[in-house]
Amino acid sequence: MNIVILGAGAIGSLFGALLSKKNNVVLIGRSIHINAIKKENLIIEGFTQFKNKIPAVHSISEIKICPDLIIITVKSYDTESALKKARNIIDKNTVILSFQNGLDNIDKIGKIAVRKQIIAGTTTHGSIFQKPGLIKHTGKGKTVIGELDGRKTGRIMKILDVFNEVGIETKFSKNILKEMWIKTIVNSSINPLTTIFQCKNGYLLENPLLENIVKKVCEESTKIANSEGIYLSIEDMYQKTREVIDDTSENYSSMFQSYKKGKKTEIESINGILIKIGKINDVDITINNILLYIVNSMVN
Ligand code: PAF
Repeated sequence: MNIVILGAGAIGSLFGALLSKKNNVVLIGRSIHINAIKKENLIIEGFTQFKNKIPAVHSISEIKICPDLIIITVKSYDTESALKKARNIIDKNTVILSFQNGLDNIDKIGKIAVRKQIIAGTTTHGSIFQKPGLIKHTGKGKTVIGELDGRKTGRIMKILDVFNEVGIETKFSKNILKEMWIKTIVNSSINPLTTIFQCKNGYLLENPLLENIVKKVCEESTKIANSEGIYLSIEDMYQKTREVIDDTSENYSSMFQSYKKGKKTEIESINGILIKIGKINDVDITINNILLYIVNSMVN
């Protein structure tokens, strides 16, 4: 399969490396990372061991293949601009798979591409961008993908095979929108709290005070989901969050990694969207609001 990874950061590079074992993969990313891959290799350390020079470019105009699949792993605030640049390589059969954090990416992609071309996925793999050309796979997580309307189509089964064949253990979800909500609820505590307290994910369960805040955020975010007709239990969401923290205990969350690099964070697509929905549905948003306020005041 011809695959373009739009956004070769930590997770995009990890998936790209694994997929390149059996597919034609091209990575698109920032010049400094792409130049390191071109000059040396793309190296993955940790749970995955990989060292190879895979095709990598920093501009869409350099892409010579027509992709069957575009995997979007850019930060949520870059979705529209990245996809606008990719317009020329999208044809009517290209499938666009979003693997991003947050709840607003499908609508952003839908402004540029035809909605029926879009599928979505979530993953809890932990990975860290160590330095240009070098990624560390810090936590083996779970990956699910699905059609937005829940159908088990031929294309989704094909993509599942492509992922599983290269060792990215992936399951089909007949309710990927619900999975995206679950991921967002999990991210709504882990990402801002690890950023504010500048710690690894695992520390959130080592410190009783933080453990309690994680619980409170889970509760508020789950109530917001419920107010939107996404029925999830608070206890399940808290257990799920604990599981992700355990699986990725050695990881620095993507939000903390962005903060450390002095980059914009995805707080608006995670807690920000939860706050917007909570306000519309008249449910409590206090804790999400505080987290958003603190993270935004740290980065500005
Ligand atoms: O955004 C992240 O960092 C990841 O979604 C996760 C699973 C919290 C691991 O760090």
